[in-house]
Amino acid sequence: MSHYIIRGGNRLEGALKIHGAKNAALPILAAAAICGDSVIRNCPNLTDISVAMEILRHLGCGALRQGDAIVTTQGEAGDCRIPDQLMGAMRSSIVFLGGMVARHGCAELALPGGCELGARPIDLHLAALERMGARITETGGRLLCSAPEGLHGARIDLSFPSVGATENTLIAAVTAQGETVLTGAAREPEILDLIDFLRACGARIAIGLDGVIRVEGVKRLQGTEHRVIPDRIAAGTYLCAAAMTGGDLLAKEVVPGHLASSLSVLAQAGCRVVTGPDWVRLTAPRRLAGFGTVKTMPYPGFPTDMQSVMMAAATVADGPTVFVENIFESRYRHVPELRKLGAKIITEGRAAVVTGVEELTGANLLCTDLRGGAAVVLGALAARGESTVTGLDHIDRGYDDLEGNLSRLGADMKRVRNG
Ligand code: UD1
Repeated sequence: MSHYIIRGGNRLEGALKIHGAKNAALPILAAAAICGDSVIRNCPNLTDISVAMEILRHLGCGALRQGDAIVTTQGEAGDCRIPDQLMGAMRSSIVFLGGMVARHGCAELALPGGCELGARPIDLHLAALERMGARITETGGRLLCSAPEGLHGARIDLSFPSVGATENTLIAAVTAQGETVLTGAAREPEILDLIDFLRACGARIAIGLDGVIRVEGVKRLQGTEHRVIPDRIAAGTYLCAAAMTGGDLLAKEVVPGHLASSLSVLAQAGCRVVTGPDWVRLTAPRRLAGFGTVKTMPYPGFPTDMQSVMMAAATVADGPTVFVENIFESRYRHVPELRKLGAKIITEGRAAVVTGVEELTGANLLCTDLRGGAAVVLGALAARGESTVTGLDHIDRGYDDLEGNLSRLGADMKRVRNG
């Protein structure tokens, strides 16, 4: 266990290379279970990625880190169970389900627990697999999934564009027998990255102009070399940190288009935002203006993963900001922590109203979840005086060397390892 000690108030300034996207690397690693030997580059060094590598090894694959790449290899045998401890460590372990059924014809796993963002059902994942021929039973909190005759193509209509359900369906469909037609699929850049990886491995996937995805199952997939897209949420987090400290940040190795909705909120708040082919430069005013209304939506709308860090920035803006969280319930667990710093936030159901204050003051803070934890760190960076931040295991799931990167931009923060 460790904690941060942060002395806030420093202006963040400089250039930063943004690491690869966790939410793209995870489904690609899950897909690697059914592909040939692959080299997946730009994989961030995160605990969630280590968990994914461990799961791959349980499934009988090799997974080895070489610098920023993960080399995956196909093994012989392998288990069709994910140990409970790995399921518990990362809720998105569920994205391995489709590949497990495709690879082994069976899967057994504990139902993903730890609902840190409120109810996070997996009914859409399971319904899609059932339509493709999987038999699924649930006993004592465990999910048993089998497809002794293999999976077959099907027509699948997602009632909500769930990122995870889209990924599971795609991974299951690429080696299923026949055609799968998927409507209502999520369109996040991480989904397109997964599709790019699968196509490079020989999968036959077509995306229509209407967003309908057609997958023609193939017998076998080969391996490939693939570079994971940049992490738009990590980039957005650093940009918010610069924005709320009157800073100036050049975020390098990003896809500016992926950040469009966040950049437009920051521009509305008074930041000067300039983009190049693979970079974003943000120059913040001395004090941000209120952001108006920010509603989380499926891509290309404003991402739910940016809601908490954008809220941290809004706490010191001159004027009000209203957030409406449309994707997850209970995604305001960072609010009581930001209030400890002196932030003025009222929540009511899916809405949160932030009235910016002139100054935050350091406090003892807890990371409640991954992105909420990042928001708390940002609040501490902008606050006068010292803060301690505990619960860093959440941060380590999604930010590669957060303290190193922020310190290089001028933050006064250090990680203290307890015991
Ligand atoms: C993924 C991301 C997560 C991000 C989220 C939204 C990964 C590993 N995780 O999560 O970081 O915050 O997308 O961009 O990439 N739902 C159902 N039934 C289902 C599945 C989802 O009702 O079977 C609902 C959920 O309760 C939620 C909404 O759909 O309200 C969005 O969930 P989903 O897009 O599936 O998010 P995740 O894949 O869990």
